[in-house]
Amino acid sequence: MRINIVYWSGTGNTESMAKLIQEGAEEAGAVVTLLEVSGADASALDADVLVLGCPSMGSETLEEGEFEPYIASIEGKLSGKKLALFGSYGWGDGQWMRDWTERMESAGAVLAAESLIVNDAPSGASAEQCKAFGKAIAK
Ligand SMILES: Cc1cc2nc3c(=O)[nH]c(=O)nc-3n(C[C@H](O)[C@H](O)[C@H](O)COP(=O)(O)O)c2cc1C
Repeated sequence: MRINIVYWSGTGNTESMAKLIQEGAEEAGAVVTLLEVSGADASALDADVLVLGCPSMGSETLEEGEFEPYIASIEGKLSGKKLALFGSYGWGDGQWMRDWTERMESAGAVLAAESLIVNDAPSGASAEQCKAFGKAIAK
């Protein structure tokens, strides 16, 4: 099982989630490649599961400088593709993730796990949730 994780993180919280997800997936036997979105292109789709991470930015949107253009660039290639989505948020209620999940399903993607959101930095129970998310994807 090959898993690619592509993420954007401004202050490191989504990056911490990405690393915990990687740890969980590797514990379950997957081969995981972790990529910042600035270094990723459509070839990241060449994996059993593409895992995408972005925090809530703007006003409940994806980060607009790098991550949104990346999503727009792969959106037409997602039919039947296994995806999983995660990200950190601050004061909102997770609307950006509900919108993003719906958008990816409308593009034809198949969600390999329920989208995962964590308030601020993962720690304790939320860190365990990240690892369990990685494990679930690797099955
Ligand atoms: C410019 C900006 C806009 C943000 N907008 C939202 C928002 O609409 N809703 C929300 O819940 N959090 C919002 N946040 C908070 C971030 O989602 C939160 O700090 C998150 O942990 C950042 O993740 P990161 O460390 O991976 O960058 C915003 C933060 C910034 C800097």
